[in-house]
Amino acid sequence: MKKQVVLYKKLSPYLMARLQAQAEVTLIDKLDADGLAQLRAALPRAHGLLGASLKLDAGLLDLAPHLHAIASVSVGVDNYDIDYLTERRILLSNTPDVLTETTADTGFALILAAARRVVELANVVRNGQWTSNVGPAQFGTDVHGKTLGIIGMGRIGEAVAQRGHFGFGMPVIYHSQSPKPAVEQRFDAQYCSLPDLFQQADFVCLTLPLTAHTEGLIGAEQFALMRPQTIFINISRGKVVDEAAMIEALRSGQIRAAGLDVFEREPLDADSPLLRLDNVVATPHIGSATHETREAMAACAVDNLLAALAGQRPKNLVNIGAFRA
Ligand code: DGY
Repeated sequence: MKKQVVLYKKLSPYLMARLQAQAEVTLIDKLDADGLAQLRAALPRAHGLLGASLKLDAGLLDLAPHLHAIASVSVGVDNYDIDYLTERRILLSNTPDVLTETTADTGFALILAAARRVVELANVVRNGQWTSNVGPAQFGTDVHGKTLGIIGMGRIGEAVAQRGHFGFGMPVIYHSQSPKPAVEQRFDAQYCSLPDLFQQADFVCLTLPLTAHTEGLIGAEQFALMRPQTIFINISRGKVVDEAAMIEALRSGQIRAAGLDVFEREPLDADSPLLRLDNVVATPHIGSATHETREAMAACAVDNLLAALAGQRPKNLVNIGAFRA
């Protein structure tokens, strides 16, 4: 008998056909109130789940006694209680690697946009306010040659370092759980403490995952160490930063600007003070959002789920302790 899979993210026809060849699929089109009710109704018979952007807590998962695998279409796994899943031997997989370069591109888009005031000045043109040559009041700041500080030197951190070092001649400094000699050699990068990084970097770029240890890592005390020329970039998770403290640092001129793809609460409230600051470039969590990469992530998730449902160990298993051969 085919296994039951609940999809809470739409797949391309090709991937849907691949999944349907092996499993009975229930698609929840949208995660609104109706969709959540459909999900709750489908969970009691589900063997596999595939989707993203939903906090799957014990309250929901207790409704799924037969659940064997969750394939998250994301690299971040902060929406899951990994200890709970491991205890229940539910295999959690994610989609690393395929989104690395695209997410690093997003980071660099924000670095360039914030430094050169691209959005703010493009809006001047769009609004018909370009009436004379730009002067110092509209000048931005250079990116090339400036010091790039990366916090979290995983795959995405490395891809950002690669762009900075080879593309823009930026000295790279970084902080991560431990020094990475291979990274240091490749990008001539220097490991440093967080306070040193805050004091030295012209661009502070967050690429680390949200965990119990990183939540609220950057607050008023850390912004106070940054300099008036610092540009703050976040492509990791909003909750790594105390948003109120960041807004204050941006308002007071403690830091120059920010490029933000992630926020404490998403979608960002339309009345967030961040949207009234000219020195903020805000994008709607588009880190991996290209046609090619989202399809590659979905394909990776389908592979992970089908492997798990076939009794194999998925390639991108997150909670290794949950797997029994
Ligand atoms: C990821 O894959 O974790 C991206 O941030 C999308 O959620």
